[in-house]
Amino acid sequence: MHSYIKANLAPNKNIGLIKLHDNESFKKMRKAGQLAAKCLKYIEEFIKEDVTTEYIDGLIYNFALENNATPATLYYRGYPASSCISLNNVICHGIPSNKKLKNGDILNVDVTLILDGWYGDTSKMFKVGNISRKAEILVEITQQCLDEAIKILRPGIFTGDIGETIQEIAEGKGFSVVEDLCGHGIGMIFHDHPNILHFGKKGHGYELKEGMIFTIEPMINVGKKDIKLLSDGWTIVTKDKSLSAQFEHTVGITENGCEIFTLL
Ligand code: MF3
Ligand code: CO
Ligand code: CO
Repeated sequence: MHSYIKANLAPNKNIGLIKLHDNESFKKMRKAGQLAAKCLKYIEEFIKEDVTTEYIDGLIYNFALENNATPATLYYRGYPASSCISLNNVICHGIPSNKKLKNGDILNVDVTLILDGWYGDTSKMFKVGNISRKAEILVEITQQCLDEAIKILRPGIFTGDIGETIQEIAEGKGFSVVEDLCGHGIGMIFHDHPNILHFGKKGHGYELKEGMIFTIEPMINVGKKDIKLLSDGWTIVTKDKSLSAQFEHTVGITENGCEIFTLL
């Protein structure tokens, strides 16, 4: 025998709405965010020549379990690893593998940890040995894109303000902003409303309100913005094979500005 409830009474009936979180939620996000940030700090010393990306992924898996957390990406929509590790021309969602890091590589490690049901999502770039001048500048500018976008956050601005800030910095250096992937609302759901585009126009999009929690995660290419999905169904690379970089923080909008949950 079965019984039924109306789908619109199911737990996630707020689909299409942007959640405004309270103080208790901010506390939980602080814990999840800090743990994800610590995880990125923890792996730093292991990132060097000849180490495989699946070894790094294993460290992240163990770190999560040792801290009563779950790696959110593992089995998420079938994704096979505890992190995304994206090298050089890989924009994002690189699958850790037995490929060894080599001198001159730049890589993004993206970690999302679930702690007590709350998601902390953050990523940063790492450098292996001596990297090219071009790579150095790309990494620096991408970091600057994220930092400057975070600086403008407060109630009353628009998601388009975030996009324009990032696009101006990146394009000002002759780089391009990836448009096919975006930041996202987050909380007890990995990818929630709203979408946070990394390009756009001031005053467009959604107005930010106190209590919103989302990620900003600009992906910046040396060459063109066009992407290509590899046949593994996950790895996204630059179509023109140029270098790409990304940094990500999870932030919450406060009365006067924001809190960066994933900043140590
Ligand atoms: N952490 C990524 C993000 O920033 C999401 C990766 S989903 C995966 O949103 F399935 F590719 F792992
Ligand atoms: Co994210
Ligand atoms: Co992420």
